[in-house]
Amino acid sequence: MRAAAKDCRGCHLYKVGTQTVFGEGPSRASLLVVGEQPGDAEDRAGRPFVGPAGRLLDRALDESGIDRDDVYVTNAVKHFKWAREARSKRRIHKTPNRAEVRACFPWLANEIALVRPRVILCLGATAAKALLGPSFSVMEKRGVPVESHWADAIVATVHPAAVLRVPREERGRAERMFVADVRRVAKELARAEKQPERRARRFGAWQAIGDRSTTSSESTPSSHK
Ligand code: URA
Repeated sequence: MRAAAKDCRGCHLYKVGTQTVFGEGPSRASLLVVGEQPGDAEDRAGRPFVGPAGRLLDRALDESGIDRDDVYVTNAVKHFKWAREARSKRRIHKTPNRAEVRACFPWLANEIALVRPRVILCLGATAAKALLGPSFSVMEKRGVPVESHWADAIVATVHPAAVLRVPREERGRAERMFVADVRRVAKELARAEKQPERRARRFGAWQAIGDRSTTSSESTPSSHK
């Protein structure tokens, strides 16, 4: 899949980003983390979450007792969408639209179907809506485990890049809330470990997701409970 995704022309973003930034991690990770799209650093490196947001994610995983080497990390969109800022000439991140997320969705669905995670952590609204539907609100449901056919539990929280944008005087609190949500993920992982039969039941669903993921991102989550 990684090799095939290199030449993806599913939407126009292949002309915008430097390269496809595919997910990485163990092929059977119990935790799969989904971000929005690669940032500037990731676009250059060709690897997800290696920039400032990734460092905050690493710290939160570490403080929650989750080993990053046991985590599969990916994004809802695999190319960096950006525009040049007129004055500074910096590459400014642009949020991917629904059509771009939909075009990229088969890659994400098949990553999940192959990795078969017990728990999925969605970072930010783009990732959460991709898997839980367009009406899902991260602000209302952050840190609350949602059962889904994708995994035993999906936990959504704010994007670490958003935490890093919080004004300095409030950043400590924002970081603590972010870490608290990741700790919730650790709890769900521990719970899932004690319930192997839930995983067994999901095998059939994963196969079906793999088969159907080329059609639509929005029909799969609700119709496959
Ligand atoms: N933000 C994301 O959503 N993904 C990355 O890989 C890096 C920053």
